[in-house]
Amino acid sequence: MTVTYNPKRTIYADFGPRRLHADNINPSVKAAKYAVRGELAVRAEEYRVRLANGEKDLPFDSVIFANIGNPQQLDQKPITFFRQVLSLLENPALLEKPDVLSSAFGYPQDVVDRTKLLLDDVQSVGAYSHSQGAPMIRDSVARFIEERDGFPADPQDLYLCAGASSGVSTLMNIICHHPSAGVLVPIPQYPLYTATLSLLNAQCVPYHLEEEKAWGTNVRAIRESLAKAKAEGTDVRAIVVINPGNPTGASLSPEDIKDVLDVAAEEKLVVIADEVYQTNIFVGEFTSFKKRLRQLQQEVPDKYDHVELASLHSVSKGMVGECGHRGGYFELVGFDPLVAAQIYKSVSIMLCPPVIGQCLVELMVNPPLKGDASYALYSQEYNGIRDGLHKRALALYEAFKQMEGVECQEPQGAMYLFPSITLPAKAMEAAAAEGRTADEFYCLRLLDATGVCVVPGSGFGQKENTLHFRTTFLAPGTDWVDRIVKFHAEFMAEYK
Ligand SMILES: Cc1ncc(COP(=O)(O)O)c(C=O)c1O
Repeated sequence: MTVTYNPKRTIYADFGPRRLHADNINPSVKAAKYAVRGELAVRAEEYRVRLANGEKDLPFDSVIFANIGNPQQLDQKPITFFRQVLSLLENPALLEKPDVLSSAFGYPQDVVDRTKLLLDDVQSVGAYSHSQGAPMIRDSVARFIEERDGFPADPQDLYLCAGASSGVSTLMNIICHHPSAGVLVPIPQYPLYTATLSLLNAQCVPYHLEEEKAWGTNVRAIRESLAKAKAEGTDVRAIVVINPGNPTGASLSPEDIKDVLDVAAEEKLVVIADEVYQTNIFVGEFTSFKKRLRQLQQEVPDKYDHVELASLHSVSKGMVGECGHRGGYFELVGFDPLVAAQIYKSVSIMLCPPVIGQCLVELMVNPPLKGDASYALYSQEYNGIRDGLHKRALALYEAFKQMEGVECQEPQGAMYLFPSITLPAKAMEAAAAEGRTADEFYCLRLLDATGVCVVPGSGFGQKENTLHFRTTFLAPGTDWVDRIVKFHAEFMAEYK
């Protein structure tokens, strides 16, 4: 298409039929990459549609979307208490028939009580709320954080958001003031971070995690990346930490967290702690960045006083798995009140996060307790999901251990395994002949042969000359794991 530029009128004259075409839209959008929903996911969806239309010529009878942490797409059942409350919030007329709710539908009284409490606060889930989120919901979140960490939390510092993604976007928009602005991002990472930085035309400053140390955070690697970026003229302003990790599943120790806070304090970096997997922990205990920061502030005078920390949580993960409802929050610690005022303004431009998602945040942070009518079923469902995830993680890990050329760190948390794969030279050549990276080639072949959709390691970043893929362990059953094992053996034999 021919495009000419008329300097007098400073407009582009476009000879095509449309004003917008692929070469004149925002280049930052084109530059952004998000592998989790990339080519593989598109092809997997095509296979799903073909199977749904009754096609019989595919070598598999179901597609397994192991590319994305989307629990309820993979048959995780919603927690009954949450959905009972949501159903009444959406249709409060049902509250006028408490007998029917109880006798016909088995809704316990605490469901009705919680719904009324929430409605007192939000009035209707169809109404806009306060831009930071409904006050009573923020009070509940503050109580949850206080109980979790043993340190106070102020509802004024809490911002409910439409999932953690929206919170990350808000924070990055505030942090990235100029194309020279940079943010330290772990590699491998969840591509939300690199994609958001691309959208903002800012710099991703990668720091590598240590695969051989269960994907731990290496503070030396952080300092080296930081020094290099600064020498190249990047104004490094923040560091992202994902704990527990995606795609790595790693869970950071209090010492690891201190190391990061030390760098942040010494180098004046805002810490963005993505803690959406805080309840998906199999090994050890979750320590929040907020708790560790408050401890250090008590133990060491002055050093940590000015650390700025934004921590994120979400209803999407954990045993809640309500990612379609888009609920989450972030908490600001140590921010200048004038910066917080600008953050408030920027969220207020979007009016408010989805109110039903806010209500789910409240239910997540304030679930039924022992003695409540819903407690028995809630804990049975919650523990069942947690144990099922752990069991599946271990089964997948065991399967990977048997596969030639595959190495995997023991699962510690989150919803993913991120094994490394060593492929034969012939497979590497075949990938190059197709103009693909070898991990992408492997994952496409896996999808074509088995219907199992995973994501190549290159979508998250990986050290040079290493190959990985990421799979969730959310899909029920073991048939799909057997499919991967069989495919892998055949693939390795084909390219020997
Ligand atoms: C580390 C991490 N942060 C944030 C998100 C996005 O979460 P939400 O659905 O709350 O936007 C995800 C989703 O997979 C994630 O893995």
